[in-house]
Amino acid sequence: MVKVDVKGCCGFVDGAKFDAYVGKALDAFDVLVAGNGAGNDFLGWKHLPSETPESLIADCEAIRDDWKAKGVDLVIAIGIGGSYLGAKCAIEALSHNFAKQLAKKDAAEVVFAGNNLSEEYLAELMDLAAERNVACIVISKSGTTTEPAVAFRIVKQYLEDTYGKKEAAERIVAITDAKKGALKTLSTQEGYKTFIVPDNVGGRFSVLTPVGILPIVVAGFDVRAILAGALEAEKALAVKSAENPAVVYAAMRNLLYKEYGKKVEILVNYNPKFTYLAEWWKQLYGESEGKDGVGIFPASVNNTADLHSMGQFIQEGDRVMFETVVHVEKATRSVVIGSDPQNLDQLNYLAGKPVEHCNHMAELGTVIAHQDGGVPQLQVCVEQVDAFNLGSLFYFFEFACGVSAYTLGVNPFNQPGVEAYKKNMFALLEKPGYEEATKAIKARL
Ligand code: PA5
Repeated sequence: MVKVDVKGCCGFVDGAKFDAYVGKALDAFDVLVAGNGAGNDFLGWKHLPSETPESLIADCEAIRDDWKAKGVDLVIAIGIGGSYLGAKCAIEALSHNFAKQLAKKDAAEVVFAGNNLSEEYLAELMDLAAERNVACIVISKSGTTTEPAVAFRIVKQYLEDTYGKKEAAERIVAITDAKKGALKTLSTQEGYKTFIVPDNVGGRFSVLTPVGILPIVVAGFDVRAILAGALEAEKALAVKSAENPAVVYAAMRNLLYKEYGKKVEILVNYNPKFTYLAEWWKQLYGESEGKDGVGIFPASVNNTADLHSMGQFIQEGDRVMFETVVHVEKATRSVVIGSDPQNLDQLNYLAGKPVEHCNHMAELGTVIAHQDGGVPQLQVCVEQVDAFNLGSLFYFFEFACGVSAYTLGVNPFNQPGVEAYKKNMFALLEKPGYEEATKAIKARL
């Protein structure tokens, strides 16, 4: 189970104040558990680990097997934000670092589109498609998000031109709203298989719905183990206690923000497989808390690489941040440093030691250095990088996010600010219905 350690904050905060914030976080915990807070029609994610039916996983596996039988070796997963980052995070965390370069492929390669509007990206995606046997998962809860809609229009056309309309329909699966929306209407019309994004689960909390499950299964990973890890967290975090890791995390980050001016939280990882865990976490916390003129800005670094780029600022720059280190207790592979007779690099003192030992000492040394530099340190600890622990992390961060946002005093489950850029973009693109907005925005250029 995920553990939270706040010892690295002790020198920065007053103990009585921390106790007071634990009290506030426990009140927020009650609101989240009772389901009587703001946005409480979006709490469906709370029981996904315990309520996901085996039949859903079996349906996803049937699609994987159908596509395998057709020889599909490239699946384009189209989506943005919560319809993208959970699956991307899981696939990056569980993949071999060099999966693309290794010849042996047991499962289709899943690549992502619809998360940007780059013309080069789509053109180069089509270059790849031309060399491969392709299927597509299109994910949009609303069905009207511009980025995935543009990508899907192009990929759909490609599939129909390449395989014919009927076969293309067998190579497209849509994940969308149960009843409404453009993608739902199109799927019914074209006969696509569909999966539902539950009404009561917002995009950034949807990784354990088909939004995450189908791409993860198609990519060949053990979604049952992810759900088992999430279930362990669901049970553990349901216990009301001042030691509940979600309560401790929510209390400390709110205390640092509100009483000590720490406005930036940096999620720190020491394993490249967790680069996208940070991207997923940034959306979860950024969209859930950054509103009404408040919120901790979620940032991330990937160490040890970023110690050689961002390390200087974190050590000595403006003291606005605290760090949350994702500590992984052990590596799942072993590489031992050898001895060298010349010892020109002076590394013989490490001969016989596993590389992970150096990684841990780099992490510990950095934690101490950053504390000395005035940066409070929290730790979120897991045993290793695998499907079970990833599932625990998903659920831990989601639950803690609900507790933290209620402690902060905002609705964790809306994102009104995301609309502002869309209105301007539609006006500039001269979308029908935006005529007045088009005139107004053009007058500002
Ligand atoms: O958190 C959210 O709800 C958003 O970031 C959405 O996930 C994102 O905008 C994608 O929306 P949709 O799935 O409706 O295309």
